[in-house]
Amino acid sequence: MEEVRDNKFAPGKIKFKDIVGHGAAKVRIAEILLPAGLPLSITSSVFAGIRAMPSSILLYGPPGCGKTQLARAVAGEADAAFLPVAPSDILSKFVGDSEKAVNDIFVEAHDRSLMKESRCAVVFFDEIDALGQARSGDPSGEGGRCSRGILAELLVQLNHISDQRGASSHQDNDNNQHQNGMEPERGLVLVVAATNRPEDCDPALLRRFGIRIHVGFPSVRDCKKMLTRHLAKVQNTLSRENLSELAEWLNTNKWSGSEIESVARESAMAPIRECIRCAASLRKRCRRQQQSGGNASGQKDECKPADPHAAAKDCLLRQLQELRPVTLRDFDQAIRFILNEQSRPECVLGGYAVCQDNHYDSSSEEDE
Ligand SMILES: Nc1ncnc2c1ncn2[C@@H]1O[C@H](COP(=O)(O)OP(=O)(O)O)[C@@H](O)[C@H]1O
Ligand SMILES: [Mg+2]
Repeated sequence: MEEVRDNKFAPGKIKFKDIVGHGAAKVRIAEILLPAGLPLSITSSVFAGIRAMPSSILLYGPPGCGKTQLARAVAGEADAAFLPVAPSDILSKFVGDSEKAVNDIFVEAHDRSLMKESRCAVVFFDEIDALGQARSGDPSGEGGRCSRGILAELLVQLNHISDQRGASSHQDNDNNQHQNGMEPERGLVLVVAATNRPEDCDPALLRRFGIRIHVGFPSVRDCKKMLTRHLAKVQNTLSRENLSELAEWLNTNKWSGSEIESVARESAMAPIRECIRCAASLRKRCRRQQQSGGNASGQKDECKPADPHAAAKDCLLRQLQELRPVTLRDFDQAIRFILNEQSRPECVLGGYAVCQDNHYDSSSEEDE
């Protein structure tokens, strides 16, 4: 099998502890995964029938709030092979091949779930609405026919693993004693799907996901915890009160975990950006001095060594060694920058550079 494909099956490294908040979701997922780690003798007696491990979970909620992270953590916690599937993995195929691609994913998941190094396999359909909204499109067109085929195949596969789970949980105990009862059950496939738009999913597809877990915006406490984690290795002057105040604001304005990460990164980079600017303007001054044929302006010490690039690099290193801590003001500016970026679609559509003006001051750049 090709290397890239193989890498996709590496067990998910993310664990619940890496995800901030979503306590109720974690408890629910842990409960679902419990049978996968138990000896077969217990699974077949205690987790039989209605208590059998579900075969599919839907994670839904706004973007950037941790659905993908949670799906990876499902695999991480279950010590399972992780098979992520993006809509493009299926939709980019030629007509007719898409259904086969769906089938192949489940065949591979089943194979993986039987391997010794993983107790089960987690197939993760990200943005499942892209696959599951098929029937609302133009059914007569080529695209409509193609996506109806994908949806139908997906429904068949989901039914299949659900039936298998039901069948194995109804096997009598005598039957199970043959297969070493102390071994955890193998051959378990769990489908996890995520969507920001459950309303766009086909109702038949939604019905296949008996367990639906909402993954929402972080609470005030979670926002504070995220900020604290992001700043753990960054020298800063933010007091507990500052962090609480920031967390309150982020929660009120419904910032996602992903946006909080962005604002923390922006803020943490602010002191570094100052050093870069400072070094760049020194390089500019030294170059001017060099062009004007000496150090008549009295900046001789500043421009040592003589090469403007070397002088700038020395300056940058010096400044980085005396880096100032991150402050609340950096957060304030980063939030303004991100809000400005969000409110100006041209930042995304018309090129990133358009929106860099104030925050990423380019005046110190050389006109080379
Ligand atoms: N609850 C959280 N805990 C830790 N990191 C988070 C959390 N929510 C979001 N993130 C960060 O935001 C990024 C995007 O999260 P992701 O799981 O891809 O969101 P979604 O799938 O809901 O769009 C992640 O890589 C992670 O760094
Ligand atoms: Mg995602």
